[in-house]
Amino acid sequence: MAADTSAYKIIDHTYDVVVVGAGGSGLRATMGAAEAGLRTANISKVFPTRSHTVAAQGGIAASLGNNTPDHWSWHMYDTVKGSDWLGDQDAIEYLVREAPQAVYELEHAGVPFSRNEDGTIYQRPFGGHMQNMGEGPPVQRTCAAADRTGHAMLHALYQQSLKYDADFFIEYFAIDLIMKDGKCVGVIAMCMDDGTIHRFRSHSVVLATGGYGRCYYTATSAHTCTGDGGGMVLRAGLPLQDMEFVQFHPTGIYGAGVLITEGARGEGGYLTNSEGERFMERYAPSAKDLASRDVVSRSMALEMREGRGVGPEKDHIYLHLDHIDPKVLAERLPGITESGKIFAGVDLTRQPLPVTPTVHYNMGGIPCNYHGEVVTVGADGNPETVIPGLFAVGEAACVSVHGANRLGSNSLIDLVVFGRATGHRLKEIIKPGTSHDELPADSADMALGRLDHFRHANGSSPTAEIRSEMQKTMQKHCAVFRDSALLAEGVEMMKKTNKRMEDVRVTDRSLIWNSDLIETLELDNLMAQASVTINSAENRKESRGAHAHEDFPERDDANWMKHTAVWFEGWGGKGGDVKIDYRPVHEYTLTDDIQYIEPKKRVY
Ligand code: FUM
Repeated sequence: MAADTSAYKIIDHTYDVVVVGAGGSGLRATMGAAEAGLRTANISKVFPTRSHTVAAQGGIAASLGNNTPDHWSWHMYDTVKGSDWLGDQDAIEYLVREAPQAVYELEHAGVPFSRNEDGTIYQRPFGGHMQNMGEGPPVQRTCAAADRTGHAMLHALYQQSLKYDADFFIEYFAIDLIMKDGKCVGVIAMCMDDGTIHRFRSHSVVLATGGYGRCYYTATSAHTCTGDGGGMVLRAGLPLQDMEFVQFHPTGIYGAGVLITEGARGEGGYLTNSEGERFMERYAPSAKDLASRDVVSRSMALEMREGRGVGPEKDHIYLHLDHIDPKVLAERLPGITESGKIFAGVDLTRQPLPVTPTVHYNMGGIPCNYHGEVVTVGADGNPETVIPGLFAVGEAACVSVHGANRLGSNSLIDLVVFGRATGHRLKEIIKPGTSHDELPADSADMALGRLDHFRHANGSSPTAEIRSEMQKTMQKHCAVFRDSALLAEGVEMMKKTNKRMEDVRVTDRSLIWNSDLIETLELDNLMAQASVTINSAENRKESRGAHAHEDFPERDDANWMKHTAVWFEGWGGKGGDVKIDYRPVHEYTLTDDIQYIEPKKRVY
């Protein structure tokens, strides 16, 4: 896409570190880099405290042991089991051992956690978190600020980042990375307010751009969750990892998709079918409603499929909180009490809430190690090849600690532990004041070429129409249950939808708050990730975690205990082809303090 770049005004900036995204992980990395004395910029398409982390409700997992006995090794066991043995155990050990310290840092940074009588942080039960190396009973491991934990974290982390003098570029849309000889040396962004183009030169870029939930029709993810970092990585010719693993949260409000925290079941809520039966007792006799998310979502889907869903179309399930003391609801679950009223017209103190499994989280993302460094399969075949200058954190990243299925409340802890680890790594590798590489002469060409192309796109398919087609295909063909025929058909349909990008129409040609243009750039990112997701799902011939393949119902460790690495080769509507390779799962721990946790059948 060659463009006359002289038509655009480019403003240059130079930093040690540029972080793209201001959710929990982006802010924690920004804070860490700035605290280390590195000149740090943060670019965000929304005001930081409106980032999607704001929607995280139930809490953040760490083995503090305030409400029940706990130990980091128990947290590790649960996370490995939750991941269905696709998680890298060295990274998981790092996560769970650093978790308590990361939570205490949040507490000291000003997060207003709910409290126990003795003043310690209140912790609630969450699905899949158990005592005694999975034996049970459930552990209370999820540290909560009522049901607004993400909201509280964002405010504290933004304030801390400002304290350490990070510069914020707010309502700037990052378009593309600047790569030079295989190294990342900066990023190009547009200020959405005035249309100016900004070229950020930096020693390192940290992608903290969140997930891509919006490639589905119904998701708990905000409309901003368009996987912009994943899109940039694919365009840079790098792979994404494990994209077939998409988490459905059991309790999205039926019809609206709004999240109802798992904390609701943690505080005693339970699910019933049209016969009033607490059906989870059949599927997970021990953990019941607190089994891990993939298990609960599949059980709900089976109940509906077998005609025991509620409502005229038997297409949802009831969540009961009406037996819980209203005072407890007001104190611990005020946010969802309000959401129930607004989005379902239900008074939770008296009525059950209609819920259905809803797309919530991407286990897959930009492959990286536990220092946040992006890795790929190198030309020599080395699957741990580090891309210099490029980092990824949070939901955008795939470390991989969540493997095939993430446990609830392991997301917020992932954000801060790996945001913090990235800060540490940046401090190690960048000396403040070091001079920068010369930028390549064509540093802005790819970004401006795409921008200019879509800005003047004059086809006959409105962005919203193509997006809706993509979302419906994903919703139908890559859902809780998949099978070979459904996936193969979905792959073909996605190719056709992708082809429509050649015919996209953008009506607004201006550069001032051109939401038509921004949504088209976002759709370009989503389309590539929808394509690699459905192709990776079609490729994986087993069932593991969130990937429930009806023609291959068993986990197949002999052939499939490996990470999918997937490249996208069909930009601009040109085919939508992908290339697939693999990276080995790390079947080793970080230290000798714990042994590798051997795979076994996953029952709750
Ligand atoms: O259910 C929830 O509160 C969501 C938490 C999470 O996804 O970790």
